[in-house]
Amino acid sequence: MALTNENNVIKKLLLFGSLYLLLAGGAIAYFLVTGKLTNDAKILDPVRIAEGKVIYQDHCASCHGINLKGQPNWETRNADGTYPAPPQNEDGHTWQHSDRQIFRYIEEGGADFYPPPIKSNMPGYKDTLTSKQIWALISYIKSRWPEEIRQKQIAANFAGGFGHH
Ligand code: HEC
Repeated sequence: MALTNENNVIKKLLLFGSLYLLLAGGAIAYFLVTGKLTNDAKILDPVRIAEGKVIYQDHCASCHGINLKGQPNWETRNADGTYPAPPQNEDGHTWQHSDRQIFRYIEEGGADFYPPPIKSNMPGYKDTLTSKQIWALISYIKSRWPEEIRQKQIAANFAGGFGHH
């Protein structure tokens, strides 16, 4: 008798245990697929994209180009040792970095990442733009990437970034 009871308890535990795993797994899959876990839904909010576009045009387009195409020959060093501004669209390598890295780069500027003697023309914006404005900028830049590149950058987010800084 006692044995049957124990068996029942074990059966119930197994049943509820697997039910729980199924639900938890389902929830995680749902969040991953909808991008909620990766903050993607918030990042691609149209209001933020619109706000970011205006900030981009005011502060970034002069170097990175109105169409995010960067400066010509951006991979070739200038005579003074600096680099031209790279594209912010899929032709550049911004998408190889995690959101956090991109944020830090805009906040601190290039000089913070490259030790001398490498010189950088990329200014830091922490005294000019609020964090919210920088996130809006990132939303705008991401919204211009093709879906495939956006998916790769989501992977970069999980890995903490693929690039050099
Ligand atoms: C005065 C020119 C200039 C302005 C203005 C400028 N940048 Fe840059 N930016 C650069 C240069 C040059 C680089 C290349 C890296 C370096 O030399 O530090 C760069 C690099 C970057 C990178 C890193 C790209 C990568 O693949 O590693 C990001 C992101 C970026 N800029 C975003 C912005 C944003 C957003 C703005 C506007 C808030 C902005 N930049 C304004 C010149 C500029």
